[in-house]
Amino acid sequence: MDQTYARYLKIEELLALQQPQSRPAEHDETLFIVIHQVYELWFKLLLHELEKIKRDYSAGDLFAAIATWKRVRMVLKTLVGQLDILETMTPMSFRTFRDRLEAASGFQSAQFREMELLLGYKRPEMLTHYRPDEPGRGRLERRLRERSLVDHFDDFLAARGVAIPAERRTRDVTLPTEPHLEIQEALVRLYRTSPDVSILLELMTDFDEGLQEWRYRHVKMVERTIGNKQGTGGSLGAEYLRTTLFRPVFPDLWVIRNRL
Ligand code: HEM
Repeated sequence: MDQTYARYLKIEELLALQQPQSRPAEHDETLFIVIHQVYELWFKLLLHELEKIKRDYSAGDLFAAIATWKRVRMVLKTLVGQLDILETMTPMSFRTFRDRLEAASGFQSAQFREMELLLGYKRPEMLTHYRPDEPGRGRLERRLRERSLVDHFDDFLAARGVAIPAERRTRDVTLPTEPHLEIQEALVRLYRTSPDVSILLELMTDFDEGLQEWRYRHVKMVERTIGNKQGTGGSLGAEYLRTTLFRPVFPDLWVIRNRL
């Protein structure tokens, strides 16, 4: 009977984690820290939920996957919406504490990279940005070598009677998802013949669109906050970020749209 709200949720520990570095304190640094920490918590939940979807796919459990995609999609909408809060910070205000970041950048968010790997966007070169002893590096290596959500989706399709091509079944899972003609044919067939599966495919498309929307909104926020300055992570900034736009994680679902 010793449980309390604060003990269960570790509130005191949580509230001790926001530590602005500017001296004298710059007002907006608190917002900057809180919003990044909140993002990392949502990334944690997304990883947790996407792992469940992988299991649902391999178990052939359509309705469990649908229920979780609905949750994941709402979390993503929240992630996009939260950028509005950060956009209340002006370029002048950000400049007052930007130097405190030194070379720190969202570019180094290990959970964001984990999510990309889990979704099948495998880029081993990304791991070189993490020192071997850095927290998160081991998790990234594991994610790189694991079957992605798309590989598990193939299990689901196979259970629905789709003949997964041999080269796809035995593929090197450290490589990124590639569009595949036979899978596209199967998806068109499922859209036409299985209304329940088509709900799932639409939810996956929602998620894919949402992730691309987050990237787009992030670039616009970066443009309005730092213009064409280089990123603290060492990239060209907005110019680099623009190269990450309009790249789906489920390419097959986009290629077939004109046939539906
Ligand atoms: C004023 C606010 C922000 C600015 C000016 C900013 C700026 C940048 C820049 C310039 C990059 C490119 C890498 C670099 O050279 O640093 C980047 C990457 C990134 N940022 Fe932000 N960012 C902001 C807020 C956020 C927030 C709130 C998040 C949420 C976690 C975030 C997550 C990321 C991620 C995941 C990347 C890597 C994107 C990729 O490589 O595809 N950023 N950011």
